Amino acid sequence: MAEQYAYLRARLSRRRVLVTAGAVAGGALAGCSGTVSSDPVPKASPSVHGSVVAPFGRHLAFGSDPRTRMRISWQVPLAVHRPFVRIGVRPDELSHRIEAEVRALHTPGVPGERVAVDQYYVHAALDGLTPGTTYHYGVGHDGFDPAAADRRATLGTFRTAPARPEAFTFTAFGDQGVGEHAALNDRLLLRRNPAFHLHAGDLCYADTTGHGKETDLYDPRLWDTFLAQTESVAKSVPWMVTSGNHDMEAWYSPDGNGGQAARWSLPDSGFDPRRAPGVYSFVYGNVGVVALDANDVSYEIPANLGYTEGRQTRWLERRLGELRANPAVDFVVVFFHHCAYSTSTHASDGGVRAAWLPLFTRHRVDLVINGHNHVYERTDAIRDGEVGRVVPVGGDTDPTRDGIVYVTAGGGGKDLYSFPTGVPDSYENAVADREAVRTFHWTRARERHADTVEWSRVRYTGFSFLSVRADPGPRPRLTVSALAQNGRRIDHFTVRRGGG
Ligand SMILES: [Fe+2]
Repeated sequence: MAEQYAYLRARLSRRRVLVTAGAVAGGALAGCSGTVSSDPVPKASPSVHGSVVAPFGRHLAFGSDPRTRMRISWQVPLAVHRPFVRIGVRPDELSHRIEAEVRALHTPGVPGERVAVDQYYVHAALDGLTPGTTYHYGVGHDGFDPAAADRRATLGTFRTAPARPEAFTFTAFGDQGVGEHAALNDRLLLRRNPAFHLHAGDLCYADTTGHGKETDLYDPRLWDTFLAQTESVAKSVPWMVTSGNHDMEAWYSPDGNGGQAARWSLPDSGFDPRRAPGVYSFVYGNVGVVALDANDVSYEIPANLGYTEGRQTRWLERRLGELRANPAVDFVVVFFHHCAYSTSTHASDGGVRAAWLPLFTRHRVDLVINGHNHVYERTDAIRDGEVGRVVPVGGDTDPTRDGIVYVTAGGGGKDLYSFPTGVPDSYENAVADREAVRTFHWTRARERHADTVEWSRVRYTGFSFLSVRADPGPRPRLTVSALAQNGRRIDHFTVRRGGG
């Protein structure tokens, strides 16, 4: 991909970007070229009236300030005229209308069918909202008015972040895909009434290979199903995603992020929201959240290794310092895809460790959430690569004293993994033990370096997700819980800083 960067830079200034892919093995997208275009008013199909084109796949995301900014995104199956959002504080007063932007994605040559796929993603930016307020909204276009009597079932709601910190819950997982367990996790996390959800990447698996190459198997139509599945929760819960290896889609842009940029409107608080949409930060209540694109540093899957030329890591250092200097922020939570610490199939990524762990340590990050390994696994508090404090189920930790707890929350719905042979794991209950585990980490030479580790504290092999409650006040705390699809709380621990 690297040789294509100069090509992309030269073309990005134009309104339309065309990237030509080479011949593809395995029958996927043979001889295709993908097109990304962004037009405020795309040319609609002249033969289809807007009244028969129904929006679907609504998904929310915060803007850079969750108190005042929200982004509403959705999909339409055909091009439409003048898409918009209606918004108001009462469902019967949606008089305020905001113009939306269409980002069209063109993919010629679906495997075996030789048919082109055109996907139309629509995005509206809402700024200047009132903190701590519930808004009602509807999405539409010429011929489809969500305020009309026969369309009101399509209305949704969201709530902006409060002006001052108050207790709240957020959820997290990675590696979801489309299917029964993926949909069930969505329903279960909705019951937690989260203020937002963190998705640690490998969202949909339209790219089933996950190598970030043009030879990967790929079917863009799976995104339609994924967004339809996700709408049940993301229409009201901001769905804050970042990029996994299966989200690098080499056909739309040389860095593989063109598809992501078309489908999602994430906070523009990163170092380059257009090239690296999965890199951003926001503050909600007393928690600062940082999203990173680990494809930039992964030794295991190096298609995008170094694609930001160090800009992401320099931004991370700067942003962690700013969050720590913010008196309103008690806790800093960082999430990204590839694991800093796991013993399961992909194990640990030495690239993540080399690039980012020194920064996490220097700025005393309070919690790190990963995916990639399709299990639940949680470490003790790790300081300087060693166990700084044993944190059993129900235990507590202080990052300023003990180090950082790393959570792999990869049980989001895709086919599950297991742990190394001979290591206790469980489907019914999480296992907490103090046995050393033989595992490995990926080196820069893309070799597996064998390790024997003692930091793997809790392991579980069923579908699950993370639920984190943040309590502000004189003794702020994070209460981290792992919840299984069978209803059990399989793990929990508490984070407090400075003996508070
Ligand atoms: Fe992955």
